Amino acid sequence: MFTNDTLQGRVALITGGGTGIGLEIATAYARLGASVMLVGRNEERVQAAAKSISDEGGKAAAMKCDVRNYDEVKQAVEATVERFGALDIMINNAAGNFVCPTAELSPNGWKTVIDIDLNGTFYCCHAAYPHLKASRHGGSVISIITMLGVSGWPAAAHAASAKGGILSLSRTLAVEWGGDNIRVNTISPGPIGDTEGTKRMYIDGGKGDLEAKKTALGIFGRKVDIANAAVYLASDLASYVTGDNLIVDGGRWLKYVAE
Ligand code: HXC
Repeated sequence: MFTNDTLQGRVALITGGGTGIGLEIATAYARLGASVMLVGRNEERVQAAAKSISDEGGKAAAMKCDVRNYDEVKQAVEATVERFGALDIMINNAAGNFVCPTAELSPNGWKTVIDIDLNGTFYCCHAAYPHLKASRHGGSVISIITMLGVSGWPAAAHAASAKGGILSLSRTLAVEWGGDNIRVNTISPGPIGDTEGTKRMYIDGGKGDLEAKKTALGIFGRKVDIANAAVYLASDLASYVTGDNLIVDGGRWLKYVAE
């Protein structure tokens, strides 16, 4: 639906790029002309993902990077610039999560998710900044969050707090870095049926139909719905959009519940 040159000449670094929404975004970006660097904790997985993109003619590379480690994040940023000559788009997609009532959550369990989601996003923004500022297209940061970080997320206080923190960080950076021609936005997916997260949290426990009905549209979203939003926000079509949180959740955050 986008023209083939929508992201021509751009370079994107995508965390958690080996699977799920991250890989879907990477694949869409490569099809529309971007070069993509995929990073994740599992080297084999990100290499296979990059190969799948290269096999269909896209420009892709991959390397291991745990976003909890600032040195590894810096190395990933530098490797991206070395390989593709620039870094225009930073996609903060890597996330960790598990269901656990707060009273039973250990301090280390809390810290682990905050480290991956919130600290990891900060590290990526921080390391990418000089390159985003130097981008000839204008820099773009897109972080994947969820409205559950705004509305309250029982049994996921760690992830809810991290996602809420990312929203606040993004709005702050949008203001702070606007003068550097860097746009900073978030995307809030709802339940995306073809992801591991939704499968684990809802479908496996037999709550799939119920959760789908909680959206105004009555259906789960698809990874491609999020990829399309990420294409839009990274492209010139969104050149005056910054500090936004693009909600792609079928109306779930409205707390719509079907009759
Ligand atoms: C209680 C748990 C737990 C669980 C881990 N912990 N899983 N506590 N219930 N199910 C605790 C551990 O006991 C430990 O604390 C601490 O968390 C760290 O656990 P590790 O296993 O050592 O951590 P690590 O190997 O680094 O793994 C990180 C992880 C894991 C987040 C725990 O689940 C992971 O790697 N996830 C990545 C993939 C992922 O979660 N993707 C989903 C994203 S989807 P103690 O105190 O024992 O030391 C998403 C959106 C969903 O976020 C939206 C749906 C609508």
